[in-house]
Amino acid sequence: MSRLELRTVPLAQTRPLRRDVLRPYMTVEELAEHEPDDAVAYGVFDDDELIAVGLVGPEGEPGDWRVRGMATTPEARGRGAGTKVLQALVQHATAHGATRIWCNARTRALPLYERAGFSATSEEFETPRIGPHYRMELRADRDPAQQREPAPQRDPVPRSEA
Ligand SMILES: CC(C)(COP(=O)(O)OP(=O)(O)OC[C@H]1O[C@@H](n2cnc3c(N)ncnc32)[C@H](O)[C@@H]1OP(=O)(O)O)[C@@H](O)C(=O)NCCC(=O)NCCS
Repeated sequence: MSRLELRTVPLAQTRPLRRDVLRPYMTVEELAEHEPDDAVAYGVFDDDELIAVGLVGPEGEPGDWRVRGMATTPEARGRGAGTKVLQALVQHATAHGATRIWCNARTRALPLYERAGFSATSEEFETPRIGPHYRMELRADRDPAQQREPAPQRDPVPRSEA
């Protein structure tokens, strides 16, 4: 049985997969021009075939890091490779001082990010040629358990005392 293996990968190695899945209307060279210089990439390999990738790097206010370029080959989806990549990107950003990790998530991918602790912080918006998105954020300076639960409610006043 094949085993999914997570590794850091050079940005250049992620480009063909990202282009095919995310930006089929661009050349690999055009895709490279839109990459931040300081981004780091992780990939998941299945028997040495690169099947999933994603990038993370500082972008925005101090402490803000952005996840982008998440892509899994169509045949390999739904096996947890994207989740492995996303967890590695979050861990990398957190280990390097991120206090807020954000992304523009395609609407179809919302559950993937929610399971990793992200929450939507915008209304749904349309990106030309790509489709509907939400901005999502994970506060890396908070306990992950607190991010998914609403603030604790005060005990209700007992009826007899109301
Ligand atoms: C999003 C994506 C990277 C997830 O990779 P994966 O290896 O399938 O991820 P996992 O198996 O860990 O998780 C599956 C989750 O991926 C998301 N997903 C599945 N198919 C998807 C698709 N065609 N497009 C977008 N997201 C998808 C869903 O959230 C799914 O969870 P659900 O089954 O509960 O709905 C992959 O589906 C993909 O490349 N999609 C197309 C490009 C894309 O949308 N990238 C994300 C941009 S924000």
